[in-house]
Amino acid sequence: MKAVVLRGAFGIENMVLTDLPDPIPGPGQALVRIKAASLNYRDWLMVMGRYNPKQPLPFIPLSDGAGEVVALGPGAQGLRIGDRVMPLFAQGWLAGPPTKDRLRQTLGGPFDGVLTELAVFPCESLVPIPTGLSNVQAATLPCAALTAWTALFGSRRVQPGETVLVQGTGGVSIFALQFAVLAGARVIVTSSSSAKLERATALGAWATINYRETPAWGRKAKALTDGQGVDYVVEVGGAATIQESLQALAPGGHMAVIGVLSGGVGTLSLLPVLMQAITLQGVLVGHRDGFTAMNRAIAAHELQPVIDRVWPWQQAGQALQSLETAQHFGKICLDFDA
Ligand SMILES: NC(=O)c1ccc[n+]([C@@H]2O[C@H](COP(=O)([O-])OP(=O)(O)OC[C@H]3O[C@@H](n4cnc5c(N)ncnc54)[C@H](OP(=O)(O)O)[C@@H]3O)[C@@H](O)[C@H]2O)c1
Repeated sequence: MKAVVLRGAFGIENMVLTDLPDPIPGPGQALVRIKAASLNYRDWLMVMGRYNPKQPLPFIPLSDGAGEVVALGPGAQGLRIGDRVMPLFAQGWLAGPPTKDRLRQTLGGPFDGVLTELAVFPCESLVPIPTGLSNVQAATLPCAALTAWTALFGSRRVQPGETVLVQGTGGVSIFALQFAVLAGARVIVTSSSSAKLERATALGAWATINYRETPAWGRKAKALTDGQGVDYVVEVGGAATIQESLQALAPGGHMAVIGVLSGGVGTLSLLPVLMQAITLQGVLVGHRDGFTAMNRAIAAHELQPVIDRVWPWQQAGQALQSLETAQHFGKICLDFDA
């Protein structure tokens, strides 16, 4: 089989298309032919050595894929050859609270990822593709979609009529917009691009704010809600956005702390957190039970993942590079059949 392997040193230039022996499924495992993958900002950080500088090399990047079961190991249960599946991001997190062990077993670092024609996974770490989705569409779900789902329906469920603020128009945020609309919430989307905001409106955003033109977008969001504040923030910006997110929130509001696009270290005034009784909830993707619940909703509502561009998988390096420029709207994917 062929795989794209990061070898020698971190950096996109060190991603090399390599011949490797076909893996053989062990007890309880399934061999999956990967048909599609999608890119997350984390994958870029990982390849650049910024997510985990101690990640041992060589390794196979990318966490999110979709494919078909082509062989089963001894005693493998719950799957048949030909089943279309997606591997869990956190391979051992099936349900319940996160634990150190569950959070450690993630694909695309430290475990080898899906930038490979064949891979083996424990059967219990594979989830069926929702009816109606192509392989490329399904490959967008394991990290970005599940993160958005967990943010909105994990510890505190968004209610119809509540207001949700979503930052930017990347993979996680566009799924958050789609799920919040499904739940009957009003969604405010921020973006650096007015053209992208028009697309967000077409997807059901209730209001939009260009955060370049309106640096005090938190206050603007509050004003849009008649001074009440928003109930939810899906926080992906990190250091440069979290204070403004607190400005946007209503008393008793909930912030899902997800991303660090502008950096993970900064100063934060804690006063609004306690004076407004705000909840900050860290999110790390989610577990299998959440993935299954999300897929049920996707199938029932025929939700279509928003895909910006599909690249041939051998061009994964170029595709990953394109994440840096942040021109995309939704997900960037790789097709293994192209
Ligand atoms: N905790 C978790 O479980 C988890 C899971 C998935 C992702 N993440 C993290 O969440 C973040 C987003 O990931 P992603 O894969 O969705 O990224 P992505 O697709 O690369 O999204 C990038 C987009 O975010 C927006 N953005 C960038 N800087 C911003 C800023 N300072 N303020 C507001 N928006 C900004 C931009 O949208 P516009 O062009 O519209 O401005 C940009 O196009 C990353 O930090 C990632 O590591 C965390």
